Amino acid sequence: MLATNGRMKIAIQRNGRLTEDSVALLRACGLSFEFQKQSLYSPCSNFDLDVLAIRDDDIPEYVQDGVADLGIIGENVLLERSARVHQLVPLGFGGCKLMISVPQRSAVRKISDLNGLRIGTTYPTILKSFLKDHKVRSEIVELSGSVELAPSLNVADVICDIVSTGTTAKMYGLRTFCTVLESQAVLVANLASMRDKKKRAIIDRLMIRVQGSQEAGGKRYLMMNAPANSVARLKRVIPSLKSPTVVPLAETGMVAIHSVVAEDVFWDVMEKLKKAGASDIIVVPIETIIR
Ligand code: PRP
Ligand code: ZN
Repeated sequence: MLATNGRMKIAIQRNGRLTEDSVALLRACGLSFEFQKQSLYSPCSNFDLDVLAIRDDDIPEYVQDGVADLGIIGENVLLERSARVHQLVPLGFGGCKLMISVPQRSAVRKISDLNGLRIGTTYPTILKSFLKDHKVRSEIVELSGSVELAPSLNVADVICDIVSTGTTAKMYGLRTFCTVLESQAVLVANLASMRDKKKRAIIDRLMIRVQGSQEAGGKRYLMMNAPANSVARLKRVIPSLKSPTVVPLAETGMVAIHSVVAEDVFWDVMEKLKKAGASDIIVVPIETIIR
């Protein structure tokens, strides 16, 4: 058991696919902490929370048992461990698929071809229910790691493992065959912490910040000057320019226009704005939006 110091804890993956984005999210929430992969605890200096860096597979149990009050974990691991925790919000990063992959030259073409084959995996629970749903009878070979090696070691015929970029599968001569589960990172909380008044207040504060940074994600703040008589035209050419703020400038007949635009269209929008008479266009990143 871990020693506790009475402060609330959020568990994140120590070293892996979710680590960097988890740290970035907490920093975007204004939490100030030094993150070192070697150290278990990183206290936040400006928020009542300690960051606990552990193996991702341990996070569901730690949050369920209250060793950590909060956790950032992939839905894949959460489902496999069937931990009793409260899911607060999907985080939009750590996207991956749990997939069945087969050796390049395998004859497997449809799901029923998996009948009688040995499937190596670290996700036996999810795989079992997938096979049951598809009425397929395969042997599940439960592995603890290095799943992609199983076919070449003849420990299994095919594998069921996480695919993110697909590099690992390719590197081991495997062809992805079908998706068992789609997953992303989620923020979860211990059930008792959710009911504890003091802890709940801190969780709620954190949630407002998480939602704020999610709202801001992929958006830019746009400011420009334009002749007052072009405002109608500017609004028309750019449908994404919803309810902009229009402020008169000292120079008569000129206005300043402020609006929020989506990151992926902002170059497009800027070019059109310029053509429609806007000048001095400034685009700045948005850190948070609190509604
Ligand atoms: C998975 C999987 C592969 C890798 C696939 O591990 O086991 O090793 O990611 O990624 P790729 O398609 O981008 O090559 P995961 O990060 O889920 O963590 P784990 O080591 O805790 O199983
Ligand atoms: Zn893991």
